[in-house]
Amino acid sequence: MPLEDELGDVLQKARDGKAWSQDDLARATDIAKDDIQRIESYQLTPEDSLVLKLAKALDLDGPSLIDIAQERWMPKEPSTDPDFDLVCLNVFMGEYPVNCYLLRCKATGETAVVDTGANPKTIISKAREMGVRPNMILLTHAHPDHAGGLGELSDAFDCPTYIDHNEPRPKGSSNFKIVKGGDELTLGKLRISCIETPGHTAGGVSYLINRSLLSGDVIFAGSMGRANSSWKELFDSITQKVLRLPDATGIFPGHGPATTVAQEKEHNPFFKGRAG
Ligand SMILES: [Fe+2]
Repeated sequence: MPLEDELGDVLQKARDGKAWSQDDLARATDIAKDDIQRIESYQLTPEDSLVLKLAKALDLDGPSLIDIAQERWMPKEPSTDPDFDLVCLNVFMGEYPVNCYLLRCKATGETAVVDTGANPKTIISKAREMGVRPNMILLTHAHPDHAGGLGELSDAFDCPTYIDHNEPRPKGSSNFKIVKGGDELTLGKLRISCIETPGHTAGGVSYLINRSLLSGDVIFAGSMGRANSSWKELFDSITQKVLRLPDATGIFPGHGPATTVAQEKEHNPFFKGRAG
């Protein structure tokens, strides 16, 4: 699975954090606005010296940003947990892939769906193939690409849907259970901790099971989510919560490959030297 974000996406999100236009970035770096436009629309890969200039202006880590620009970094997969199976399903909304997960307690077989995606048939057939009937649906947030399939899955599995108290309720379930930071849910022998991680949306929540974090659109390998509700809140969610988890913690995001806390502290241009 390729990284969710390329250089152009990282630059746009970093500009968003400063509330800068492309003109502002051009002025700060002495790079022509035309070139910045082409870089952000993936038509131009600038040479390393220009990437370093962009990184400096945008408070990004230079060497990490060069690795993203040159497409030469990919995270190694986190280690698996002996207590549960975590199956990642790449569910498509049109052309756009979203990671949904089936989390199964190995001791009891009890299973949760984490984000429903917009096309639930993939999840329903995978659950059948695994011989499980999910007991709960956990939503990281309510965006349509993550929660669009809720109605069909609720009908198929007849189970409650958990969502953060600050998140709007998507259509499709009449059995919502509301969570807030610090809540702990039980799935078989597993304990699922709810960690509020707002910023991508006002009520974004991540679910921690042992040393695995299901984080929705908060952080991506080598990048961060889009700050739809608040850039500062999103940055703080990542630096003060996600990246303060133990280094070996696996991060399983809503888009792109899985990673770990250690790898993001070392390779993510937004957070190298600014987290932990
Ligand atoms: Fe989202």
